[in-house]
Amino acid sequence: MSIIVTYPDPILRKKSEPIEFVDDELAEFVEKMQDIMYEKDGVGLAAPQIGVSKRIIVLDDGNGLIGLINPVITEMNDNKEPMEEGCLSLPDVRVMVNRPTSIQVEGLDIHGNPVQYTADDMLARIFQHEIDHLNGILIIDYLSTIQRSLMSSKLKQLQRNADS
Ligand code: CO
Repeated sequence: MSIIVTYPDPILRKKSEPIEFVDDELAEFVEKMQDIMYEKDGVGLAAPQIGVSKRIIVLDDGNGLIGLINPVITEMNDNKEPMEEGCLSLPDVRVMVNRPTSIQVEGLDIHGNPVQYTADDMLARIFQHEIDHLNGILIIDYLSTIQRSLMSSKLKQLQRNADS
């Protein structure tokens, strides 16, 4: 049994709650998220993916670890690019997702201090993917109707795995 919550678990569709207090317990939780992300070879993880409906994400695009609490995208450019994405909560599913290539993100670090990131390309994409999770959005939501019908057997299989 994996610690990662997978589709179609309803927690993945909930809007996560903001964090009101950043304390040692929370910092420990963020460290646990980081460990799970690396263990699963993920480049990002959002708290709902381990069953906690709180606005916390961790990510690492290969240039270092970022843990962010209550992340908000404050700016994005108009230039979008498609790229194939996967998700630990949707095993064996790959979806082309069109996203802005440059964004600004604000939030709190694990000490509760305000931080801001300017992110481009891969890092911008991971931030957006993880923040989507906090709003109950999954990569399959970016499928066109035709793509969705092509993928329906895969999604039904995930549903069956969850039921069994
Ligand atoms: Co994901």
